[in-house]
Amino acid sequence: MNELLKKDIMACAPTKEAARIETDKEWMRSLLKKHGLPGQIKYQSFTDPDEAKKFIEELDGKVAVKPIGLTGGKGVRVAGDHFSGIEDAISYVKEVIEKKIGGKSKVLIEEKIEGEEFTLQAFSDGSTVVPLPAVQDHKRLLPDDQGPNTGGMGSYSCADGLLPFLSREEYDKGVDILRRVVEVLDRENCRYIGPIYGQFMLTADGPKVIEINARFGDPENMNVLPLLETDFVEICNAMFEGTLSRKKICFRKKSTVCKYVVPEGYGIESKAGKKIDVDEDSIWREGAKLFYASVNKKNSSIFTTSSRSLAVVGISNELSEAEEICEKALKHVHGDHIFIRHDIGTKKLIEKRIQHMKKLRGEI
Ligand code: AMP
Ligand code: GLY
Repeated sequence: MNELLKKDIMACAPTKEAARIETDKEWMRSLLKKHGLPGQIKYQSFTDPDEAKKFIEELDGKVAVKPIGLTGGKGVRVAGDHFSGIEDAISYVKEVIEKKIGGKSKVLIEEKIEGEEFTLQAFSDGSTVVPLPAVQDHKRLLPDDQGPNTGGMGSYSCADGLLPFLSREEYDKGVDILRRVVEVLDRENCRYIGPIYGQFMLTADGPKVIEINARFGDPENMNVLPLLETDFVEICNAMFEGTLSRKKICFRKKSTVCKYVVPEGYGIESKAGKKIDVDEDSIWREGAKLFYASVNKKNSSIFTTSSRSLAVVGISNELSEAEEICEKALKHVHGDHIFIRHDIGTKKLIEKRIQHMKKLRGEI
């Protein structure tokens, strides 16, 4: 963005300085702390594994261990999900520091928080923040939230802009945090222009910040951008020109389900270079949307890479209908070495999430 600005090329994205909110997790946490923003959790960063050990012990091993820089969503390890005891946590801390995972010999340790995750994306012109419908992503590779973390296996959103476990009040609290992040970035001389992404954990004590990204979410943007009624280029102009407060932004009130087709072994050791047959016309005929991600086309055939291959999105009034459309469309994608998380957006998994929140809130 900085280079484009130097050449007077109009672009709708944050500068390198403002995008640090995503690229430096420690800076993001320190900014929330400095300005007393809500949604903060306990954290500390370390370059010395022995010092890290003391903090991990203080938190009784209930921690998330994070490289400071970017790792494509695959560098974070959480107690209970990816490791069990304090010793395991420390050995990953050592690995991050020694191998400079994420680019630095430094590690961020956060308290592990419990709840349901949700994503809030918004348009920002530096002072006005316009939120989009909430989305829930599925980071874990395998059904029922098992296996390693990935860049995201699929996501859903609901016609009312909320989620089955997320109230209007909780959504508003998340939006307020995003607005205040943009406000403090401006105060720090890092005016934030472009789409902004908040990853939150809804806990019994309200939404807490997991991370802030300086872009749309992938897959979450595929849930919300197809619902946009207002011209996207006009919105980008308004973000760039600082006139977002005067722009009316409208969405279709529909539910959406997005599922990614990924190469077998994705998140562990992807089987790249395998052929996938995609019957595009039939997918569109089912009323679904198709978005290619990382594939190679040779002659007229499509081949996997090591990243996510393509996403299919079902859109309808009800979430169950959107899920059905997505699944019908996925039947037109074939390959011997592909994998899909079919449980995303299903009644069973959503019910589990509702019950999880009820339990944390002490309602059952
Ligand atoms: P991140 O790359 O920071 O989004 O982290 C990847 C995933 O790890 C998140 O989507 C959460 O599921 C989980 N996670 C990250 N930080 C925490 C935390 N402090 N407590 C519990 N889970 C976390
Ligand atoms: N879906 C997670 C991300 O875009 O970072």
